[in-house]
Amino acid sequence: MERAILLKNGDVVSAAKVSRADVLIEGERIAEVRKGIAPGKNVQVFDCSGKLVFPGAIDAHTHMGIPVKGTRSADRFHSGSRAALHGGVTTILDFTHLLPEESLSPSLQRRREEARDCLCDYGLHVNVTRATNDILQEIPELTQQGITSFKVFTTYREAGMMLGYRDIERVAEVVADAGGLLMVHAEDEEVLQTAKRSLDPNSPDPLLHARSRPVEAEAKAVRRLSQIAERTGCPVYIVHMSSRRGLHEAVQAGNLLLETCPQYLYLTEAAYREEMGRMVVASPPLRERADCRALRENLGTTISVLATDHCPFLTADKPPGQPYTDIPNGIGGVETLVPVPLARYLQRDLDVRVLAAVLAENPARIFGLHRHKGRVEEGYDADLAVYDPSSIRSDWFEDRESAADWDAYASMPALFPEYVWRRGELAVHDGHVVMGGPGHFLRAEKPS
Ligand code: URP
Ligand code: ZN
Ligand code: ZN
Repeated sequence: MERAILLKNGDVVSAAKVSRADVLIEGERIAEVRKGIAPGKNVQVFDCSGKLVFPGAIDAHTHMGIPVKGTRSADRFHSGSRAALHGGVTTILDFTHLLPEESLSPSLQRRREEARDCLCDYGLHVNVTRATNDILQEIPELTQQGITSFKVFTTYREAGMMLGYRDIERVAEVVADAGGLLMVHAEDEEVLQTAKRSLDPNSPDPLLHARSRPVEAEAKAVRRLSQIAERTGCPVYIVHMSSRRGLHEAVQAGNLLLETCPQYLYLTEAAYREEMGRMVVASPPLRERADCRALRENLGTTISVLATDHCPFLTADKPPGQPYTDIPNGIGGVETLVPVPLARYLQRDLDVRVLAAVLAENPARIFGLHRHKGRVEEGYDADLAVYDPSSIRSDWFEDRESAADWDAYASMPALFPEYVWRRGELAVHDGHVVMGGPGHFLRAEKPS
């Protein structure tokens, strides 16, 4: 007989409503969601009275163990996915990395190998950092195999990752024909180069990182990308939207899908003036309070997805005194993706349904996982997290699972889940990660 679990009397959260119900899990799936389910024989019962039952979150943007400026981001798939589960994230979507001379399919196989000990279910977006005819020809074939999201960069020329707008348009045409989605890191390289010219490249001041990547770069790239979306009909998804100006351009255009990250909602460039300012060097950089406010106000409406861009480094990887141009770019966040926003929403009496939308339902739909993931409903994968609203705390740093030794959110109140299930398997028990076995590689359907 299949394992059966009954969550009694929880407040089940979806984008549409919060409703008191029982949730019956049989094997890997949710069998029933309604009031008054009687516990059958051999059913393990969890009392969820006064607790929130959320769909397992989907972090649509992580970078586990990626090479950056001679080092690697601190979390490999194993520690990063333990951290994810600890915070209620049951699915992560990471990226391939295209080597020189390599084509897309081998880059995908290599990344799948690296992800084989990932404890979350996981999918991969395919980075297209060269746009030769041979590379473009692989895209329709990959969409047949369940890879439907392709990522390009309008910056990182020196790292060999940038495509010009003309090449991005060629990729968009092919992705559109194949029924896929184009993800874009949107900062215009020309604007960045101009800003950089007036700054001392040897200065160790991390604030110069923000000055070298002004909001105009995001705004210009967003404008160009909306034109490409218009001309090609390709669904274009802007990753890590960071600024009010960029947001304004995107809302004016009205044809782009938008993601933001907790760092752009809750941290400001004032952090670059602090002793550990170099640790929050990431691209795009942190902005001003008004930017954070605008992004928070648009979360769940014009901004569909909250994801992390999880890419933490050890303090030793960002030593003091290093020129700002050499600091590896990236911040962690997968472990606190749900706990920090959820604590803030509860403390400010905001509508938690927004979080179910931007952390589960919307990413599931946009990335073609909507038939199995993102909802606490009959027939869906039993990816669930139970939170006790009376357990918000600020002393969680020592309990983290991430391999990183520093955390940008360490001083913030957070609500970590008491229990998490990943496809019906208990992943977190009493706040501790107990998941042992690897997750599934997810084949996406076309975006819905
Ligand atoms: O600084 C960042 N965001 N590093 C990760 C790579 C990227 O641009 O998303
Ligand atoms: Zn990026
Ligand atoms: Zn990223």
